[in-house]
Amino acid sequence: MTHSLFLPNSYKHYPEKGSVSYQSPSNIALVKYWGKYGEQLPKNASVSFTLSHCHTQTTLEYKMKRGAGFHVKVFLDGVETPAFLPKIETFFERIKPYVPFLERYAFMVRTTNSFPHSSGIASSASGMSALALCLVALENQLLSREMTSDYYHQKASFLARLGSGSAARSVEGPLVVWGEHPKIPTASNNFGLRYPFKVHPNFENYQDTILLVDKGEKQVSSTVGHDLMHAHPFAEQRFQQANDNLSKLISVFESGDLEAFIEIVESEALSLHAMMMTSMPYFILMKPNTLEIIQKLWAYRKETGSKVCFTLDAGANVHVLYPESEKDPVLQFISKELAQFCQKGQYICDEVGFGSKKL
Ligand code: DP6
Repeated sequence: MTHSLFLPNSYKHYPEKGSVSYQSPSNIALVKYWGKYGEQLPKNASVSFTLSHCHTQTTLEYKMKRGAGFHVKVFLDGVETPAFLPKIETFFERIKPYVPFLERYAFMVRTTNSFPHSSGIASSASGMSALALCLVALENQLLSREMTSDYYHQKASFLARLGSGSAARSVEGPLVVWGEHPKIPTASNNFGLRYPFKVHPNFENYQDTILLVDKGEKQVSSTVGHDLMHAHPFAEQRFQQANDNLSKLISVFESGDLEAFIEIVESEALSLHAMMMTSMPYFILMKPNTLEIIQKLWAYRKETGSKVCFTLDAGANVHVLYPESEKDPVLQFISKELAQFCQKGQYICDEVGFGSKKL
């Protein structure tokens, strides 16, 4: 089904050639998206911190061509990478009704990630949102009347979502909601939007240190993982739980209650993994060192009263979240006590950021 809001009016003119570049960040979900329906629509609402240092930079070069069909080449760090083509072609096929100029141009996509390729950090959120933003920027040049800034961001997020669900949350920052929710009337299943309510200063510049426990390829692709929610015995309860957790977070964001924040965020991470452990086939994406880190972190919190907590994506890496006011002691704790559980002792220090940037 097409979404009429994002179908363009006719184009005014087609530039012969040119290029456009965007930087778009990764994001870390506090309430997780796990389960989808239709064309990349989420079964529950999710909310994430947009990150700052983990990002993708993409340049889209375009040149008019004749004939139908897509013509794309992809370069990762300057090296042609045909392995990315199937994903991009599927993406182009899906978004064609919304950006019908795709077949008019031959494209070169040049992309680099600020984080190591095999770090276990998903590049799909930052990569797909950067590409979607480049396409919207190009479309803006073809229109007789430029898009408003709100529409521009919505359309970029809408297209990014069709590439990878979580990418819908990478266009803006610092907090983004994606998915309809009874308490957030403006939230949509179609695109992410900046969290519209009050946020306490405790959450300003929130820190996220990503502990690289397992840098290998994902054991289970998120597409397969999402699919397993279809026949999952706990699916409906899980979708309800996520929506309830988002309701609770609305009050927590307003009050700045970090104890309550920790409880919701850690429970979300473990519930996500519980879904994976109880699907058929079942799988465990945590590694022994993931658990070592969680135990150490809980012990540190008990000893010191720190407000540090963790969350997990669909993998073994641990995102350590803490307020900016605790930056020095928590970083010391990480380097002394947690780095030993990371592959080659590696971790990435990141913090909440403000979304994509045109370069
Ligand atoms: C566990 O966005 O990678 O990170 O829509 O199939 O591309 P696709 O899935 P993806 O799923 C992310 C799942 C998650 C939780 C989250 O980011 O909300």
